[in-house]
Amino acid sequence: MTSVQKHIPVNLERTLELLGPALSAPGAVLIDATLGMGGHAEAFLTRFPSITLVGLDRDTDALAIAGARLAPFADRTHLVHTVYDAIPAVLADLGIGEVAGILFDLGVSSMQLDEVERGFSYSQDAPLDMRMDPTSELTAEKILAEYSESELRRIFYEYGEEKLAPRYASKIVQRRVVEPLVRSSQLNEVIIAATPAAVQRSGHPAKRVFQALRIEVNQELSVLERAIPAALDSLAVGGRIVVLAYQSLEDRIVKRVLAARSKSTAPAGLPIELPEHRPEFALLVRGAELASDDEKAINSRATPVRLRAAEKLRRVA
Ligand SMILES: C[S@@+](CC[C@H](N)C(=O)[O-])C[C@H]1O[C@@H](n2cnc3c(N)ncnc32)[C@H](O)[C@@H]1O
Repeated sequence: MTSVQKHIPVNLERTLELLGPALSAPGAVLIDATLGMGGHAEAFLTRFPSITLVGLDRDTDALAIAGARLAPFADRTHLVHTVYDAIPAVLADLGIGEVAGILFDLGVSSMQLDEVERGFSYSQDAPLDMRMDPTSELTAEKILAEYSESELRRIFYEYGEEKLAPRYASKIVQRRVVEPLVRSSQLNEVIIAATPAAVQRSGHPAKRVFQALRIEVNQELSVLERAIPAALDSLAVGGRIVVLAYQSLEDRIVKRVLAARSKSTAPAGLPIELPEHRPEFALLVRGAELASDDEKAINSRATPVRLRAAEKLRRVA
């Protein structure tokens, strides 16, 4: 089976259900900010025959796969190679003012994980690449060769939440003097040798270091920090956003932005809430919604997912 055939879009029915009410108006525009293999996109275009879809991905391979899959809907799709914090520029280029719905299905796709040579997986030997956009400059190899020990320590702490960050950073710097780290097997070897036997790890010892490198290579968190507010600004009143996050660092960013924009701005003690203080957004689910047991049973990728959703209530100047 190919990656496309075996891929099941995460929480598909739930995303259709949450975004659906915003997509019924003729000409409604949906942004799929993380097109991937076009699984969610195909389902939305099929279920809502009058929408136009703007699909973004930073991965040219993903765009080629999604482009072929969505060819039957070519008259209602615009597929764009870009990083998703460029949503305002993409809409301006297409002459689109506001949109009815936005979907973010964050992280790497199963196709990217399946392509061993792209180096996303610690469990298979591959070049230390990890670029979602194969045309970009920074690779994991470059980071391991060029970052100072303190910079490595910082990214392992911040992006991997790795307690052994100082130890791993120091061992990497010692090792790279002897030989450049170019393959994931070499990095695994350094990490495994540096992990004290007494330290109990959940999962592979290098899991967090790989996560940290991937986040740094793709600047995932800083891009998301810019993208979520820009996406919220692009929604029409009544428009809806759904975000599927797979790790807590990303979910925290989404949670913080949505919470701030769904709060009343009325000063404390005011007896009534004036219209200009009403929240800009209403949250559509309480907290972060987890995948159902049925969803997890058919799709193991849904296990860590945290879904958040909101509807725009009014425009704030
Ligand atoms: C989990 S997959 C999406 C799968 C898709 N929903 C489907 O059903 O096929 C995430 C996709 O988002 C892309 N991506 C991740 N971060 C991105 C960013 N900052 N800008 C644009 N695309 C990004 C990845 O390249 C990947 O193809």
